Formats: sequence, structure tokens, C-alpha cells
Amino acid sequence: MYLFLGIIVSLIAFTTVIGDTPCAERRIPNESVVCVCNSSYCDDITREVPTGRTYITYTSSKDGLRFKKDSGVWSYLNVEPCCTTTLELFPNTTYQTIEGFGGAVTDSAGINWKSLPPVLQDYLIRSYFGEKGLEYNMLRVPIGGTDFSTRAYAYNELPENDTHLSNYTLAPEDYMYKIPMIKSIMNVSTAPVHIVATTWSPPLWMKTRHHYGGFSRLKEEYYQTYADYHLKFIEKYDQSGIPVWGITTTNEPFNGVFSFVKFNSLGWDLTEMGKWITENLGPTIRNSKYKDLKIITGDDQRLTIYYWFNLLAKYYPKILDYIDGLGVHYYTDKFVPAIVFETVTKTHPEKFILATEACEGSAPWQKEKVYLGSWTRAKSYIEDIMEDLNYNLVGWIDWNLCLNLKGGPNWEGNYVDSTIIVDKDKQEFLKQPMYYAMGHFSKFIPRGSVRIKVVEKKPLFSSALRHVAFLTPKNTTVVVIYNDGQARPVNLKNSIKQNMLYLPAHSVTTLEYAN
Ligand SMILES: *[C@@H]1O[C@H](CO)[C@@H](O)[C@H](O)[C@H]1NC(C)=O
Ligand SMILES: *[C@@H]1O[C@H](CO)[C@@H](O)[C@H](O)[C@H]1NC(C)=O
Ligand SMILES: *[C@@H]1O[C@H](CO)[C@@H](O)[C@H](O)[C@H]1NC(C)=O
Ligand SMILES: *[C@@H]1O[C@H](CO)[C@@H](O)[C@H](O)[C@H]1NC(C)=O
Ligand SMILES: *[C@@H]1O[C@H](CO)[C@@H](O)[C@H](O)[C@H]1NC(C)=O
Ligand SMILES: *[C@@H]1O[C@H](CO)[C@@H](O)[C@H](O)[C@H]1NC(C)=O
Ligand SMILES: *[C@@H]1O[C@H](CO)[C@@H](O)[C@H](O)[C@H]1NC(C)=O
Repeated sequence: MYLFLGIIVSLIAFTTVIGDTPCAERRIPNESVVCVCNSSYCDDITREVPTGRTYITYTSSKDGLRFKKDSGVWSYLNVEPCCTTTLELFPNTTYQTIEGFGGAVTDSAGINWKSLPPVLQDYLIRSYFGEKGLEYNMLRVPIGGTDFSTRAYAYNELPENDTHLSNYTLAPEDYMYKIPMIKSIMNVSTAPVHIVATTWSPPLWMKTRHHYGGFSRLKEEYYQTYADYHLKFIEKYDQSGIPVWGITTTNEPFNGVFSFVKFNSLGWDLTEMGKWITENLGPTIRNSKYKDLKIITGDDQRLTIYYWFNLLAKYYPKILDYIDGLGVHYYTDKFVPAIVFETVTKTHPEKFILATEACEGSAPWQKEKVYLGSWTRAKSYIEDIMEDLNYNLVGWIDWNLCLNLKGGPNWEGNYVDSTIIVDKDKQEFLKQPMYYAMGHFSKFIPRGSVRIKVVEKKPLFSSALRHVAFLTPKNTTVVVIYNDGQARPVNLKNSIKQNMLYLPAHSVTTLEYAN
């Protein structure tokens, strides 16, 4: 009788699995797999609704599993197995609330997307934002151009010295690529898409040096004009039917101070930034129709957080009236410990920290700009997202939503990797392992989820796992576990219920169960 019931349960579990379209895998020698989407085929994934005592797991691995579904039933035997790591969840200890996950609609992302036939364009959008996709709910959108454009530009470049911004129009790139792509996204997304807009460089006449990149500062006579420049963008996008949720106070401000890069930038120091936010940007936004817009400062590497937040707040405490949060980029994370986040979360817990940009392949020693099938890059994403979430970050926004096989286009030659690579000639796109890395978080940790405490109890000599857990607004608990070593079991425990999970080698597992 019980055996018979067991068979019925597994049959039910099985029938739900065949609803998904599996990965059409292409193996990359010595690496993992990419999943190929063409005009007649694209893999997808449906989130199962867990009920009663069952839990659902989704696993991706270096060996080639992609969101492999399984289910099981909790046991109520209150005996912890010996010699196995136990992860115990404490839903009564809660931390930050999640804002979301997403990527960036750059000109280059739009150009690659538009290079595909309409059916594939739709597959790409649904893969990220649809109900059977990763269910992203955030976007970063450049105000004007970045290096991921085919030319360097800003708005209102002519007439020069135009404090009234009398010729402020959006660029052809907005109308041809960015706005259509965002509209398609908004059409299929399962939650409101929160858009963060960022300027890389203003028009050259506002700058102390007549170049898009390299060293520069904002001319003092244009402080108010640069604030208005932001407001005008928000108005133009709003008029196009695209509400903007937040802005950052300029992309990577240190680039224009130390002249790190040749692409679009604008340098700031504390005095300048403090003055601009308190006297120009802050009042301009708060006295406008868009007064609830989130203002996010920093938007630079982890190691600059102390400077862009604590020192700014110390010398210009009035910025705290205007700033909602801090943005942070990925590129120094391997060298700068995440504990630096505590200089904000401990002193100003009311200000959020959001990861606003990340990509692989940008470091000078990374010879492969696009590295097809790299599990190492997926692992870097997973570890970084987990670390950030465990340090109370409220979300994680990836860089370009898609790039071409070279990692561009990029007017400055700064090619990098992306979660989706578009092959225009073959009329297909490739989902990198990093795409699934993002999805293990974005799809299962919706906006409004609250992080809870996890305690790892491991036997001596056993290596540590990486993990993070949430209570979701769907009344479920979600746990994400990364196993960087050989296949192994792990015991998951929540109060009186527990279950033994099997983690394949080099794998990430998302587990969900009803509360
Ligand atoms: C599209 O992909 C599917 C699955 O891999 C394959 O069977 C089909 O032949 C492909 N179609 C084209 C036109 O390449
Ligand atoms: C794959 O790895 C093997 C063994 O390490 C090596 O001999 C081979 O050259 C590698 N192939 C590629 C394409 O990197
Ligand atoms: C307004 O900008 C456009 C380019 O967007 C330029 O062609 C035109 O000359 C500008 N008008 C004035 C009056 O400067
Ligand atoms: C704009 O201002 C700069 C600096 O004052 C000046 O050199 C330039 O000639 C001005 N341009 C125009 C078109 O007035
Ligand atoms: C929105 O979706 C509908 C139906 O799914 C489709 O007909 C329409 O073209 C889409 N609009 C955009 C802007 O993608
Ligand atoms: C949380 O729950 C655990 C048992 O699951 C209990 O031991 C602990 O005291 C609780 N902590 C708080 C703050 O309620
Ligand atoms: C959440 O689920 C638990 C157990 O299934 C149930 O008792 C509780 O009422 C649910 N809460 C909400 C808000 O749906």
C-alpha cells in the first residue's frame, strides 16, 4: 500500500518535469555546456509550486545539468545523521528584503538582440523575464552612450554651453534598440521591472577636458545643468511609457579621477560629489514629479565604498537626506573582502546596497573575452552573489543582457563576456553557464523575499559549502547551495523536519518548500 502510494507520488513528480523544454546542449571541450536556442527551439523552466511536505530541487552542474528538477518529502525523524554536513535554517532570524535581479539594456545588447529574427528576439526576452525564464525584475539602462555602443555620444551635445538643455532629444539608439527592447521586456515580465538609469559621460562641453574618457571633471557652472540632464532623461523615458525606478550618481566616478579607462567617464571627488548631490541633484529630483526616485551613490568598485559612503556622509551629512542607497560593482571582489559592506550596513542600516554591474572577461589577464561554456565564470558569479546576499545586499544586476561572439560591439575595444552570446550568422543564441548561475537566484528569490539565518555544522576535515536562504512572499522557503567539490550529501534541517540531499560535483542547487 505505502509502496503503491510512493509510486503515485513519483509519477506526479515526474509528470510536472516533462513540462520543461530541456537544454539543447553544445559541449565545449574541457568546459561545461552552452544551451543553444534557435528559431524553433529554446529551453525553458517552470517553477513548481511546492505543497504540503514536498520540496522541489533544481540543480545545474559543471557536468551539464541545467535546472534539473527533483522532488522529495521531508522526514520528521529528529536524529541528525553523523559524518555529514548539516545546514540548519533559522527562519526566526531575518535580515534584508530583496529588491531584485537583472541585467543591462545597453546599446550593444539592443543591437545584438535586434540582429536576431523576431521569434528568437522573443525567446531571448522570455528567457530572461518570462514566466518560464529567469524572471528577472530589474534593469540598468545607460543615460546616453557607454563603451557598449558603436560610437561615443551624450545627449544635447549641440548647441554647446546650453544650460537650458534646449536641444535635449533621445538618441537614435534609444528609439531603435533600447526602448523597443525594454518595451518587450515589460510586456512579458512577471513583476514590475525596476529600472536603474546611469550616466557614463555628459556632453563634452560640461567637462573640464574635451574627451569622453580619461581624466575629467564636471565644470562648476554646469552642476545644475547636469542635474537637469538626469531629470530630462527620466521625463523622456516616462513619456515613452518606461518608468525609471532609480538613478546612480555617475558610473564609476574614480575612472575619471585616476584615468583608469579610455571609455566614457566623469571624475568626481568627495567635495564635488557632496556639493552636487546636496545642492543640485537631490533638490532637483525631490522637487520634481519624480520625487520618489531612488538616488544611488557610489556605483563603483567594492574598495571605494568607504570613500563614497562614509566619508561622503561624514563631510556632507546632508546627502543622507537625499541618498537611498549605494551601488557597487563586481570587478575587485576577488581582492577586497565583503566585510567592507559593514561600514555602511552597520552605520546606516536604513540605506540599501545594490550590486549594479558585473561581468567576466574584463580583466587584462583574461585572454578569452567571451569564454563559451566556462563553469569557472558561472562559479565566480554564484560565489559573488551568495557573498553579497549574505552581507545584506538587496539585489544583483548583471551587465549586458547579450553580446556577440567577440564580446561586443564596443567602440573602445573593451570586449567582455555575457550570460547570453548572440551568433547572428547562425541565427542562434547561446546561454552560457553564467545565465543559469543568475537564474538559480533570480527565478526563486522574488522581490520582497527576506533572508534568513543558516548555520552550517560540518564534520572535521569536511570542506565548507556555500549557501544562502530566504522566506519568499509566495509563503515558501528557498535555499541555494553551491558545492565546489566532489559529489556529496548534505542534511538540511528546519526545526523538526529534515532531509538528506545529494549534491553533484561542482553544482548549484536551489531548493524550495512550502512554509
Ligand atoms: C534548432 O534546435 C533544435 C534542437 O537542438 C534542432 O533539433 C533543430 O534542428 C534546430 N533547427 C535549426 C534550424 O537549426
Ligand atoms: C583538454 O584537456 C586535455 C587534458 O588536460 C588536454 O590534453 C587538451 O589539450 C585540452 N583540450 C582543449 C581543447 O583545451
Ligand atoms: C540639436 O542636436 C542635433 C543632434 O541631435 C543637431 O544635429 C542639431 O544641430 C542641434 N541643434 C542645435 C540648434 O544645435
Ligand atoms: C563654450 O564655452 C567654452 C568655455 O567658456 C568656450 O571656449 C566655447 O567657445 C564656448 N562655445 C560656444 C559655442 O559658445
Ligand atoms: C506584447 O505581447 C503581445 C502578445 O503576447 C504581442 O502581440 C505584442 O506585440 C507585444 N508587444 C511588444 C511591445 O512586445
Ligand atoms: C529561533 O528558533 C530556534 C529553534 O529553531 C530557537 O532555539 C531560538 O531560540 C529561536 N530564536 C529566537 C530569537 O526566537
Ligand atoms: C503559509 O503556509 C503555512 C503552512 O502551509 C500556512 O499555515 C500559513 O497560513 C501560510 N501563510 C500565508 C500568509 O499564506
